[in-house]
Amino acid sequence: MKLHFLYGTETGSAEFLCEDIIEALDDDTLETEVSVLADVDPAALIAGTFYVVVTSTFGNGDLPSNAQPFADALDASQPDLSHVRFAIFGLGDMVFSATFNQGSEQLMDKMRARGATLVGERGIHDASTGDMPEDIAGPWAQGILASLRADVS
Ligand SMILES: Cc1cc2nc3c(=O)[nH]c(=O)nc-3n(C[C@H](O)[C@H](O)[C@H](O)COP(=O)(O)O)c2cc1C
Repeated sequence: MKLHFLYGTETGSAEFLCEDIIEALDDDTLETEVSVLADVDPAALIAGTFYVVVTSTFGNGDLPSNAQPFADALDASQPDLSHVRFAIFGLGDMVFSATFNQGSEQLMDKMRARGATLVGERGIHDASTGDMPEDIAGPWAQGILASLRADVS
């Protein structure tokens, strides 16, 4: 099984978190790749790969600048993503309560609007809790992987 991690970050946490999730999954049978969302064309997403999107929220409930081109391409070219399956994890902070984790919500909604299938529930990290992102995202990702495995068996 191939997991392609797509991250959007302003200060690096989401990028590091992808590596932490891979470590938490601790599964040598998985093929993994990590890319910044800005380098990925949504129209090039394929059916044989499972996508794990990890993005923070910045500005006023916005996507990080290196995730925005992906979101813009979804809007502009409106690709058919009905063959795409993905999970999404958002980094945010309840200090920004009015826009908490809206970046990940926005991206999830845009991908689903193009027909992509969300597996599991959107994972959420709230920096104001003091929890480490990997302590929340690790078990979340293990749950996603378990449901993927249950699907293929
Ligand atoms: C200037 C600034 C604006 C932010 N705006 C939001 C926001 O609107 N909503 C939210 O949930 N978190 C917001 N955050 C919190 C970040 O999403 C959080 O710190 C996250 O862990 C950063 O991850 P990153 O390093 O991958 O970008 C903001 C943080 C900063 C510094």
